[in-house]
Amino acid sequence: MSGGDLRMTGGERRRIVQIAVDGQTVTAREGESVAAALIAAGHRVMRWTARGEPRGYFCGIGICRDCLVIADGQPDTRACMTPVREGLRVESPRGPSAPAERA
Ligand code: FES
Repeated sequence: MSGGDLRMTGGERRRIVQIAVDGQTVTAREGESVAAALIAAGHRVMRWTARGEPRGYFCGIGICRDCLVIADGQPDTRACMTPVREGLRVESPRGPSAPAERA
């Protein structure tokens, strides 16, 4: 975790769980979005384009696809729409692994 916990207050009653983000352990709150957990832990880049450009949280409503990650081996997972659960493994795709790059 870098930069401390950047969450807004209000989710303190949710159970604290551990997820893996690109092989590093990140503390998250069960049920919050993967995007929220990543941002709170200081991970603003969620994927990289084929040209090496970073992408991250943008629309927050599942439309832009900038937040696509690999979650438990499932590619094209929208981090902004996916709830955190204990032991979730999140990977940041690089290059043409995201649908927007394959088109
Ligand atoms: S932030 Fe736009 S789809 Fe997730």
